[in-house]
Amino acid sequence: MLKITNMTKKYKGFELIDFNLHVKEGELVSLLGESGSGKTTVLRIASGLNEDFSGNVTVHTKHVEQALKNGDIAVVFQDSLLLNHITLKENIIFGIKFRKLGNTEIEKRVSEVLKILELEGMENKYPKELSGGQKQRVAIARALVAKPRILFMDEPFSALDPPLRERLQLKIKEIQIKLNLTILFITHDRDEAFSISNRIGIMKNGTLLQIDTPKNLYDYPLNSTIAKFLGIENIFQTNDKEWAIKNEDLRIVHILPSEKLKNNNYFEGIISNYSFKSGFYDISVNCLESYKQIKVKQNRIEFNLEEYFYKKKIIYVLYRIKDIVFF
Ligand SMILES: Nc1ncnc2c1ncn2[C@@H]1O[C@H](COP(=O)(O)OP(=O)(O)OP(=O)(O)O)[C@@H](O)[C@H]1O
Ligand SMILES: [Mg+2]
Repeated sequence: MLKITNMTKKYKGFELIDFNLHVKEGELVSLLGESGSGKTTVLRIASGLNEDFSGNVTVHTKHVEQALKNGDIAVVFQDSLLLNHITLKENIIFGIKFRKLGNTEIEKRVSEVLKILELEGMENKYPKELSGGQKQRVAIARALVAKPRILFMDEPFSALDPPLRERLQLKIKEIQIKLNLTILFITHDRDEAFSISNRIGIMKNGTLLQIDTPKNLYDYPLNSTIAKFLGIENIFQTNDKEWAIKNEDLRIVHILPSEKLKNNNYFEGIISNYSFKSGFYDISVNCLESYKQIKVKQNRIEFNLEEYFYKKKIIYVLYRIKDIVFF
């Protein structure tokens, strides 16, 4: 559906070189990366908003410029930029009213998108009468009413508070599946990317470091930079080898289970901090040997954690060799 081939774009102090990305029909791909990594640059070029680049972008085999003219492309930004002097409904229609669609078709489409985005009954409100979340939904409705083949979204929910954000993420997922819509979604929020994407591409300094399904990325990060970016905190360097263990693959115990040690390795340390959050303990352990801090996520603790923490008693952090991620 979307095919970006050898996209190259240079700004002062920034280079995007030979960037390649394919997004399949009906797929939601996220680009995840820190600020300045080039996400918006890719989106603007891929959606036809910036024509000054080298390489090739096609949407459903058509050149991007042609696709844009055809109305195959729609874009939603962080700030919805609604027109303040016209109503919600007029905002939604604004982009398609010059297409020769006919009033019946327009009305049909508007009522469809109002329904999908749960905006029914609000048609006659003005943007200033809407909340941030409602405005973003109008922006999405305005994009969908054009029936694009592909929707580009650049951090559309980043100005919204977490519960609303999560609801809109679910909504987008629902819409993607219902309309078999192809979406390129941009975010710097890892959880957001993980909760909505079929595949996630990790960007850094204008480069796509790795692209895969959320599960594969998390299980098989290609290097420690990617692992860190995915929130994997226990990364070790021994000799010249780098390896990692996920917080949830570690287990703290206060007595070494001798019979199980055949399958386990362990660190010895003291608890330097802990907290309990939504079903899990987050525990930091200072290792005696390496002075390294290890982070553990564990849902059950079979001993008095508080006592071991305050009295600085020794605990053990078990891990299984098979859970190690090698780079
Ligand atoms: N029009 C421009 N002129 C000059 N430099 C630019 C321009 N647009 C972007 N850049 C530079 O290109 C780099 C990538 O910018 P881009 O907006 O693509 O990053 P981003 O990943 O979207 O970041 P953010 O998460 O902050 O939105 C930045 O260093 C930025 O300063
Ligand atoms: Mg950006």
